[in-house]
Amino acid sequence: MHQQHQDLIDRDRKVTFHASTHLRDFAHGDAPGRVITGGKGIHVVDRDGREFIDGFAGLYCVNIGYGRTEVAEAIYQQALELSYYHTYVGHANEPQIALSEKILELAGPGMSKVYYGMSGSDANETQLKIVRYYNNVRGRPQKKKVISRLRGYHGSGIASGSLTGLKAFHDHFDLPIDTIRHTEAPFYYQRAAELEGMTEREFSAHCATKLEEMILAEDPDTVAAFIGEPVLGTGGIVPPPEGYWEAIQAVLARYDVLLIADEVVCGFGRIGADFGSHYYGIRPDLITVAKGLTSAYQPLSAVIVGDRVWQVLEAGTGEYGPIGHGWTYSGHALGCAAGLANLAIIEREGLTANAAETGAYLQRRMQAAFGDHPLVGNVRGVGMLAAVEFAADPARRQAFDPAYKVGARIAAAALDENLIARAMPQGDILGFAPPLTATRAEVDEIVARTARAVDKVTDALVREGVIQPIQA
Ligand SMILES: Cc1ncc(COP(=O)(O)O)c(C=O)c1O
Repeated sequence: MHQQHQDLIDRDRKVTFHASTHLRDFAHGDAPGRVITGGKGIHVVDRDGREFIDGFAGLYCVNIGYGRTEVAEAIYQQALELSYYHTYVGHANEPQIALSEKILELAGPGMSKVYYGMSGSDANETQLKIVRYYNNVRGRPQKKKVISRLRGYHGSGIASGSLTGLKAFHDHFDLPIDTIRHTEAPFYYQRAAELEGMTEREFSAHCATKLEEMILAEDPDTVAAFIGEPVLGTGGIVPPPEGYWEAIQAVLARYDVLLIADEVVCGFGRIGADFGSHYYGIRPDLITVAKGLTSAYQPLSAVIVGDRVWQVLEAGTGEYGPIGHGWTYSGHALGCAAGLANLAIIEREGLTANAAETGAYLQRRMQAAFGDHPLVGNVRGVGMLAAVEFAADPARRQAFDPAYKVGARIAAAALDENLIARAMPQGDILGFAPPLTATRAEVDEIVARTARAVDKVTDALVREGVIQPIQA
């Protein structure tokens, strides 16, 4: 590492509290740092000029790829005209109006209004407030609990972090808060061994039964909403088992429970459809979007409110006056300008279709490279979302002892190959979510670098006696 890069990292260690980082190790120089200085297409460059393929599009958000001057230009032009004015008490700006129209057009029938935030987490906070308000206006003050899923990811706030179903986001923070419950994760691969011989469809029915049992045990009059990502994201990149969403929605309808689709990852093309809900036949009452809305050129999120809920919100303000919910930066003009330019690129370049086509190629190549690998238990994904899950005994779906940190070691070995892939929390799972611009040649390169990383770690595990030598 060059001295200037090292100096920057040393300065950073003294002053920044980094997200999802081992704070002590980083502050004391025992965990690596890196300063990223640029990016183009699917590549990012660090302060040394070292170029990486970003196989995870930042945090599955840079859907149009890096270095799009068109978006930079749109932000600049908007800043020259009006960088900011609030959207309280009916104030608006032009990009915000146009972006709301575009979002509703893409979301399709049944969706009524758009409320803006800055992050997926704050948008899910808004969702929870809407759900409470909705039931209070309807005269059902007891109907407040929200059911999420184990392994779901919905953010890091007090409420959104409570919706998240991952241990690391709860422990030592006194979460989840008491109105939030977690039901079975739709993770067929990990449960199939335990649940002996169930088909995917049977497993989906099992998940729906578990949900129904929970609603009944809690008392349906106290359960307000269910939240889920169309494809489980940070919890392991797990497409739902066959028939899952149909079975879940039937239960929700029986007990008048609202459905919130958290489309922060799936929204705007990632799985080869405008929304994950379209892909899986989900009919949500409320939708959360962020990431792909601006491809992270500006921080922007949104809650899309369906007709059924909107009618009640309107009635509520008729009765109680203006709604007591607002962020200073809601509908930020620069964010909305970035969103419009981003969605224009996605449309003009057919990136959603590319996510379907090149995404299918990515899935095939991943299956071919790792499907029968002796260290791999499962290869899965949809569109431009893919995961390879490693296992000590793939035939029995038995995981490695977490102490070996197999997933993290493979991600580190990939980095040595100048490939960024993400070691997902909770399991030895390597995740991929490249920009939607990725070509077949770039997919080939991602797979080739991953294969070298997996081979390297396999050899190391044999040397360390963790696994038996692999027969050719
Ligand atoms: C499905 C989902 N919802 C919500 C969030 C939270 O978004 P943010 O990190 O912008 O707060 C994320 C972030 O990864 C996510 O994947």
